[in-house]
Amino acid sequence: MSEEKSVSLIKDMITKDENEVSLRPSSFDDYIGQDEVKKELEIAIHAAKKREEALDHTLFYGPPGLGKTTLANIIAHEMNSEIKTTNGSSLTKTGDLASILSVLKPGDVLFIDEIHRLPSVVQEVLYGAMEDFTLSIIVGKGVDARALNIPLPPFTLVGATTNSGSLSAPLRDRFGILLSLNYYSVEELLQIILRTSISLHFPIALDAAYQLALRGRGTPRIANRLYRRVRDYATYEGKEVIDTDSAIKALDFMKIDSLGLDSTDRKLLSCLIYRYEGKPVGLSSLASATGESVENIADVYEPYLVKIGLVDRTPKGRIPTKKAYDHLNAVMRDKKFYNI
Ligand SMILES: Nc1ncnc2c1ncn2[C@@H]1O[C@H](COP(=O)(O)OP(=O)(O)O)[C@@H](O)[C@H]1O
Ligand SMILES: [Mg+2]
Repeated sequence: MSEEKSVSLIKDMITKDENEVSLRPSSFDDYIGQDEVKKELEIAIHAAKKREEALDHTLFYGPPGLGKTTLANIIAHEMNSEIKTTNGSSLTKTGDLASILSVLKPGDVLFIDEIHRLPSVVQEVLYGAMEDFTLSIIVGKGVDARALNIPLPPFTLVGATTNSGSLSAPLRDRFGILLSLNYYSVEELLQIILRTSISLHFPIALDAAYQLALRGRGTPRIANRLYRRVRDYATYEGKEVIDTDSAIKALDFMKIDSLGLDSTDRKLLSCLIYRYEGKPVGLSSLASATGESVENIADVYEPYLVKIGLVDRTPKGRIPTKKAYDHLNAVMRDKKFYNI
């Protein structure tokens, strides 16, 4: 694999693909991990069903690939209602939102992914719809302009946003249930990989699955993608089971290291260590020095590097930790660092 190709590996793995729909758990029973989130939702759903009301508006926060879209679909399934899915960046005009709101039926779930991307004019229309189930729009122009208030059926808005997505406070405040998704443990990823191997009818040895779980960056979408790539490798080698040998060879081939880092992660770390010599660096400087987008670093790379303790966020910027130096096998320039 060329360096260029491997550079964008994690980025590729984090973007969605159609195949994953078949792997998406459809009920809480199949949804592994996130126990607190599941519990809170189960209680709220049970109560809403008992009262025969729509579930409160719900917001999911968290890095990509952790199961936000999956949960939105599970909510609809558990509420026995339909889900309409859209994206904050595709609702550019108030009319776009109005047309999707006007087809909702009582109890429906409206899922707006990347809700932080909604333009503020559209957000303002959404406030009324969320609060009073009323669609307030202006029709006509100039002296002919008229305000229309159209009643809407009670519905549930489910929003999803990444941690870095800055959601305006007024919008956030209109959600009754706010849930933050965390990275999965290795054991949970292991269960997810084994489940995927059963769904895709291609067995994997337990130790091979464990090697993938270790490198899955706490993210089901990445763990599933690693599984698929390793399965391709095993197939290429004429095997009918993914054994540890093919798993390790495939992971090495993809240049995914023992912590699940790819060359972009390592590029970011070495930029912090060598170019900035361990001094605090702002996100935009890091982005321009490495040629990555700010959003990509903020949403995909940095949260995981922080989570596993390779990068610290300080008020002045990002700094590499001792573990980062060790991981890159780097010589620390500032010897005092050892004495802290
Ligand atoms: N808790 C989970 N248990 C099993 N598989 C999961 C879980 N969460 C996510 N997945 C898998 O990961 C994929 C990505 O999840 P998704 O809901 O699309 O993430 P997000 O919307 O947060 O980016 C899903 O298709 C599903 O296969
Ligand atoms: Mg999603």
